[in-house]
Amino acid sequence: MTENLRCAIVGTGAIAHSHARAIAAYPRAELVAVTDLSRASAETFAASYGGPVVYDDLETLLATEHPDVVHVCTPPGAHAAQTIAAFAAGAHVVVEKPPAPSLDELQEMTDAAAAADRRLAVVFQQRTGTAPAHVKRLLDSGALGRPLVAQCQTLWYRDAAYFAVPWRGKWETEGGGTTLGHAIHQLDLLAFLLGDWTRVEGRLWRLDRETQTEDVSTATVVFEGGVVAQVVSSTLSPREVSAIRIDTEKATITVDHLYGHGHDDWRITPAAHVDADESATWEITGPEERSDHIYLLRDVFDALRSGAPLPPTADAPARSIELVAAIYASADADGAVVTPADLAAHPTHRKSFASAVIDLRPDH
Ligand SMILES: NC(=O)c1ccc[n+]([C@@H]2O[C@H](COP(=O)([O-])OP(=O)(O)OC[C@H]3O[C@@H](n4cnc5c(N)ncnc54)[C@H](O)[C@@H]3O)[C@@H](O)[C@H]2O)c1
Repeated sequence: MTENLRCAIVGTGAIAHSHARAIAAYPRAELVAVTDLSRASAETFAASYGGPVVYDDLETLLATEHPDVVHVCTPPGAHAAQTIAAFAAGAHVVVEKPPAPSLDELQEMTDAAAAADRRLAVVFQQRTGTAPAHVKRLLDSGALGRPLVAQCQTLWYRDAAYFAVPWRGKWETEGGGTTLGHAIHQLDLLAFLLGDWTRVEGRLWRLDRETQTEDVSTATVVFEGGVVAQVVSSTLSPREVSAIRIDTEKATITVDHLYGHGHDDWRITPAAHVDADESATWEITGPEERSDHIYLLRDVFDALRSGAPLPPTADAPARSIELVAAIYASADADGAVVTPADLAAHPTHRKSFASAVIDLRPDH
């Protein structure tokens, strides 16, 4: 058992705060060092979290501090190189979503973890919390009958100022558009609940924003066991929602939220034929943990300290990236069906998700 985890953060922008708060909330972790391309940003950040040492670059940080855990909170294009450097220096890595902008880079990261005998934990915090764990148990046990049809919506609003940040909206630095950058949270939660996918048909659309990448995507995903899911992802939707609906033989499961969910955001509505005593056993009860970095990182830290496997909430880094890659690969093939075997053999989509976007903007 490792007593205390010495943590470092690379990239001290928006999401790094969630990591710093989660480290502070865990009694046996300490934020010892940070680094960012902008020293000013790193210094301001460090001053808010107990004064970890600020370094000008990750290399020096790793060589000087030998942290136990490196939290990679930079834009996706930087994740692979920084993760591999952290493993080479003997650290475990917690990497923000999306873990990599391509399947090949993700493979390099998981290979580097294996070679260094370290762990790669991914942050898809929407999988965490007591409600998804409960719903997954119900689905896996068969209590709700066979899942049949699903909807997965990520209808968000991101204006021109959001895309003015240089790394956003470009294949090279962001790796993809709203499918990879935003919808991946709900896709990840859907796949956490339903398991592996077997076929995908997808389309990428550019309807309004000045980006290289898509601002809308649509897809049909079939999961193992024959569940058909309709997926809509958008950055153009003024009334924002993140939502999943799964209709099973016995019930409709819904979660409606925006950036995080608790028990009240979930509903399990029984079919008319289900006995009230039976549906009463499906209720989400007990102490609530919301979907949040705090619980995700608590469970990751517990595993890293004890040597236990990573919790399911932080493991399986490839599952949702593969699903997203399949949507991009299908769009590139004019909406053709893509299977896991097609994706594995795809000539370019393991290297990059850069893909065909149908431009419907009136003046383009
Ligand atoms: N889990 C979530 O809910 C969630 C939410 C937002 C963002 N994210 C993810 O977190 C990551 C960062 O997003 P953000 O919104 O915090 O971005 P951001 O632009 O606010 O911050 C990124 C920071 O990284 C720094 N940086 C960039 N390249 C670097 C490099 N090579 N070395 C060191 N520092 C570098 C930038 O200077 C900036 O301070 C992305 O992968 C994003 O998808 C996750």
